[in-house]
Amino acid sequence: MADGGSGAASRSGPPTAWIGTSWKMTKTLAQARAFSGALVDVPWAAGLQPFVIPPATAIATVAELLPPGGPVLVGAQDAHWEDEGPWTGEVSVPQVKDAGARLLEIGHSERRAHFGETDERVNLKVQAALRHGLLPLVCVGEDAGQRAAGSAVDVVSAQVRAALDGVPDHAQVLLAYEPVWAIGASGTPAEPEDIAEVVASIVAVGQGRPVLYGGSVALDNATGLIDVAGVDGLFVGRAAWDAADFVALAEIVAQRST
Ligand code: PGA
Repeated sequence: MADGGSGAASRSGPPTAWIGTSWKMTKTLAQARAFSGALVDVPWAAGLQPFVIPPATAIATVAELLPPGGPVLVGAQDAHWEDEGPWTGEVSVPQVKDAGARLLEIGHSERRAHFGETDERVNLKVQAALRHGLLPLVCVGEDAGQRAAGSAVDVVSAQVRAALDGVPDHAQVLLAYEPVWAIGASGTPAEPEDIAEVVASIVAVGQGRPVLYGGSVALDNATGLIDVAGVDGLFVGRAAWDAADFVALAEIVAQRST
């Protein structure tokens, strides 16, 4: 857990398993409140670290119900690498922290594909998150062409290496393996055997940092994916946007890995 970060892990030492969701560009404040309210009294398994990543508009609302220091970490989907300045439309790490975020998602494939998120920027954002005591969650993954060409391990290893460039060995960083071809409504869910080799390479390059898997994770495939060696948690989009489903996924992860 990030030093000076959430304090969430103080319940029982460092987390042994992770379950999280990013809402991407969904949910009104009322919907954010309803989801967060449904998590308030959940008896989370010891060792399981749940996290929720709302859109920037809803971070403060979610953090009112799931405050820093509580059992559920709240995150931001992105933040700029500079602390402040003339960057119209952006939000900074200190700003999302002020709103209640303790985790920062960085380098999601949708941002890499549509918003010019380069490996260099990913690295700057990792450094910015660590500077302010937020836990970086770095997303990596190859696209379909790279997989077909047999270069998934090379591509993903290079992304991890770049993200961690200059980052001290002791710094806590979460790594999420999200193959681009598996993400979203048009994605193809991965089979456990599709991901094992890449996960192992991330564990190696990431020097044992926690590795989450994401991309079309759902209630019916979560068990097989969390059981892959080296996978410490699941990072879920669509299938976790209902609070009851998020809790059900959390139970699967807890049963298999805490
Ligand atoms: P999905 O999204 O679960 O809806 O495929 C995953 C992600 O983008 O992290």
